[in-house]
Amino acid sequence: MLFDRPATTNPIDQMKVVGKPLDRIDGPRKTTGTATYAYEWHDEALNLAYGYVVGSSIAKGRITSMDLRAAKAAPGVLAIVTAENAGKLGKGEMNTATLLGGPEIEHYHQAIAVVVAETFEQARAAANLVKVAYTETPGAFDLSKERAAAVKPEDSEADTQAGNFTKAFASAPVQLDETYTTPDHSHAMMEPHASLAVWEGDELTVWTSNQMIAWTRGDLAKTLGMEKDKVNLMSPFIGGGFGAKLFLRADTVLAALGAKAAGRPVKLALSRPFVFNNTTHRPATIQRIRIGATPEGKITAIGHESWSGDLPDGKPDMAVQQTRLLYAGENRMTTTRLAVIDLPEGNAMRAPGEASGLMALEIAMDEMAEKLGLDPVEFRILNDTQVDPENPEKKFSHRQLVECFRTGAERFGWNKRTAKPGQIRDGQWMLGYGVASAFRNNMVMKSGARVRLDRDGLVTVETDMTDIGTGSYTIIAQTAAEMMGIGMTQVAVNLGDSRFPVSAGSGGQWGGNSSTAGVYAACVKLREAIGQKLGFNSEEITFADGQVKAGNRSVPLAQAATDGDIVAEDTIDYGEISKKFQQSTFGAHFVEVGVDSATAEVRVRRMLGVCASGRILNPKTARSQVIGGMTMGVGAALMEELAVDKTRGFFVNHDLAGYEVPVHADIPHQEVIFLDETDPVSSPMKAKGVGELGLCGVAAAVANAVYNATGVRIRDYPITLDKMLDKLPQIS
Ligand code: MOS
Repeated sequence: MLFDRPATTNPIDQMKVVGKPLDRIDGPRKTTGTATYAYEWHDEALNLAYGYVVGSSIAKGRITSMDLRAAKAAPGVLAIVTAENAGKLGKGEMNTATLLGGPEIEHYHQAIAVVVAETFEQARAAANLVKVAYTETPGAFDLSKERAAAVKPEDSEADTQAGNFTKAFASAPVQLDETYTTPDHSHAMMEPHASLAVWEGDELTVWTSNQMIAWTRGDLAKTLGMEKDKVNLMSPFIGGGFGAKLFLRADTVLAALGAKAAGRPVKLALSRPFVFNNTTHRPATIQRIRIGATPEGKITAIGHESWSGDLPDGKPDMAVQQTRLLYAGENRMTTTRLAVIDLPEGNAMRAPGEASGLMALEIAMDEMAEKLGLDPVEFRILNDTQVDPENPEKKFSHRQLVECFRTGAERFGWNKRTAKPGQIRDGQWMLGYGVASAFRNNMVMKSGARVRLDRDGLVTVETDMTDIGTGSYTIIAQTAAEMMGIGMTQVAVNLGDSRFPVSAGSGGQWGGNSSTAGVYAACVKLREAIGQKLGFNSEEITFADGQVKAGNRSVPLAQAATDGDIVAEDTIDYGEISKKFQQSTFGAHFVEVGVDSATAEVRVRRMLGVCASGRILNPKTARSQVIGGMTMGVGAALMEELAVDKTRGFFVNHDLAGYEVPVHADIPHQEVIFLDETDPVSSPMKAKGVGELGLCGVAAAVANAVYNATGVRIRDYPITLDKMLDKLPQIS
């Protein structure tokens, strides 16, 4: 189905099933331990062997020798694969770092060998016997030092400009010029990367944990020099992805190579301490923001420059993305600069671009509002735009940022905030309120599905879409139920299998809207096939209550399949419409914090997120997404930071004891409001992304609340006690 004009009325608009806060259909399996995760496919392979990965202990240099004798002779060892005997490995499209390194070493804990043995313990013990000698070369590990040497990446979107920023900023009556930093972050999802690889002849099947089945299948085939149709990838249940599992990683490649070498199925998980330096992370940024405004608070100039680092041939963090679209102002510039940093690969994590960009921009907006003597909510409303400010001929398909702020301010009791910081006390606690815009682009992706009606009236949906804990199973079932006029119990959903039609996958908050739009398209075809089969030639055919109806004729749906299943398959594809309008999602985050006046400990007391992001397909799963995002925002504001050993070049706190993320006790009552809206430009579902929006802007709202509580402005995340303690006002 080609989607090339705004959606008109369609069966989804009935909202009998779609839009209802239904429980997850996969919930019972997950809570009873019967949903099978990547490391648990014991029954899929008899005679299973275990792989254990050896990682480089230097960050940059060359392996001079590798002594495998002791490891090979160790009990239970079946095979050891290194770059020497792995055969020629191709490089997939998505990865910058080589997943099996040697002799050149690109980063610390880059995989250099996999040991396969009868048991996990034997593989691990033997891996410890691998002796490696290296020559080290100096590496670059410190972004603040490499910033000067950073270059414009070979991407035409690296820089943008409109009007004359330099002139407008120089002559602006009110100016702000500040620099903010965000540290390296790790995904820290609950389920580590794991794979089980099984060869049958020249055909490979891998059970794994991956967000993007088709990308990863293609990259795995390319890496191993195989035809894509000889590779099957299965990932029906995923314990969190956050961007870490968008691409092929070492566990999958090495399980496949290990299984081939050992002639046995091989199961392999990356241990938690290995994940942090072996896989990807969100790179640190340095961001300079300049805003010029009239005394009344109209922005006349806005500039955002961002620096980040990555391995050679890597990619920048696109932290300036939202600044191109969020606020009005005629004179603008954004630049993106990339330094070579020899730390592990930087890549997508939890709303890449906007997540780190808003951490800076939204503190800057708070600082500017204060300079102008404006309420930060009013300052943002004053600078709203309904068109892309860099390309004013391009309108937003739908933009309710102002409504998010008005609704949120009212509901949160924003009027209780004092403009002067440090005014509200609760015993030893200094209280403050903070606010920030939420913004995330709405990407739409091609997505396919197959639907089957059987003689019992059951509709089965098959697509390679993944559910990373987000609720894909449920919203896909809701879509099929709505389209076919049946209840949720009459729908079965099978996901995460590369033999199914290629879907949008889970990434960039495009999965929910795109994958359900694919199911919609397939169901339109199924409806046609059923209508034909039952001899309806009316255009007015409806599907409701398990019946197919037209005029005064009504036939049970199941009857269409009495002499065989009816199957339909289609893919939603987007025409020019997706480029004609600027599609984005909007929100406002409100936060109340308490800061201990003696210790500078920050406690988040209340959070409210207001989201305007198209039709909400399931308010319960969407709310869970948003409060999850808000929780990540608290992490980014107060805790999360990969500590870099700038001499040896690795992340030191490579486990969940040292890399801190919020726990339940850190998170107060969270409230989420979804504005009632539909966006017919985005898809027939009229929905948009919402998951990542929940995170965008949150950290800055926390930072602004801390400032409002204390008068201490921290521009370097995370906001930890040590950065504030000596700046706190003395208690009188
Ligand atoms: Mo998301 S960081 O695109 O999985």
